[in-house]
Amino acid sequence: MNSPILMLPALLIAIATAPTTWATEREINDPVKKGEYIFNMGGCASCHTATDDQPLAGGLPMETPFGVFYTPNITSDESTGIGAWSNADFIRAMTKGEAPDGSHYYPAFPYTSYSKMSRQDLLALKQFLDKQTPIVSKNKSHELAFPFNIRPLMTLWKLVNFDDAPFQANKDKSQAWNRGAYIVNGPGHCGECHSPRNLLGGIKTDGLLTGNPEGPEGESVPGLTMTKDNRVSQWSDEDLLFSIQIGMTPDGDFLGGSMGHVIENSTGRLSETDLKAIIEYLRDIES
Ligand code: HEC
Ligand code: HEC
Repeated sequence: MNSPILMLPALLIAIATAPTTWATEREINDPVKKGEYIFNMGGCASCHTATDDQPLAGGLPMETPFGVFYTPNITSDESTGIGAWSNADFIRAMTKGEAPDGSHYYPAFPYTSYSKMSRQDLLALKQFLDKQTPIVSKNKSHELAFPFNIRPLMTLWKLVNFDDAPFQANKDKSQAWNRGAYIVNGPGHCGECHSPRNLLGGIKTDGLLTGNPEGPEGESVPGLTMTKDNRVSQWSDEDLLFSIQIGMTPDGDFLGGSMGHVIENSTGRLSETDLKAIIEYLRDIES
């Protein structure tokens, strides 16, 4: 947990800019602004912006049990970023985990969740990325242990751990529930941290959102399902809203670690309608 004193400036900024009047992207007409909203929903900046003066230029080290990954440059620079990519290249990367040359991405890039994003959302996101400042910065090679350094092995990994089926709406549930399910399992990629993983680093689908004692950066990530072992089950809807909007928990503490980045770059920037949709969905997951 971060100290409340250290978090205070962040809290004040969060309150000052709390997006209570923000529309969800469906109500935004400007296509680039729409894309920016999707970009926030996806929390792309948490991983692809290592330093604020080099937005989206990558280079952030990600320590994992398999070695260190360095995030790539996703600015619109044509030689070192993704500026030369077609829409089809982008959609393929995000939904199939495949590079334009056909090689496979590691799931440190959470395409395992982004594969649920709609084509429409992905095209808006690409339009936003195309408009960002190109930055020349060469990608760093990952430092992975054998055999994880053999990229073609990802073909096998995907066969076992990757379901590229698009998001399926559940007709028996409300529109808000479905919107929440889409955000949580798609762009919001909550399950990437809040679910346990198997030995190969694949998400255990039967434990979706039940927590992960060995989360990113060695953190213990709490469960979000409504069993009474998870403290969110004791929180009111308003408590839950505050926790993901400004990071404050009912006991006055602040959420930190990687969730701090999620709140700063993602959930803290979403409309209240979308946050409430997330909560409606989470409330319905029993185990
Ligand atoms: C948890 C960290 C993380 C998040 C969040 C994340 N990425 Fe990435 N991304 C990575 C890593 C790591 C790679 C490199 C994967 C590899 O080398 O196999 C990558 C690769 C990519 C690539 C391929 C780039 C190339 O040069 O081949 C694209 C495009 C991309 N990400 C876009 C996005 C977008 C758009 C978002 C937000 C919707 C996003 N990423 C969110 C970690 C992340
Ligand atoms: C990058 C990893 C990561 C992602 C992605 C992530 N979380 Fe978290 N989350 C955490 C960690 C770590 C904590 C614990 C933070 C702490 O205790 O300071 C946490 C805590 C929480 C809590 C407080 C629960 C409790 O019992 O204290 C809520 C609520 C929450 N996350 C919701 C979400 C939602 C909703 C999403 C998706 C929109 C999400 N998280 C995505 C890592 C993540």
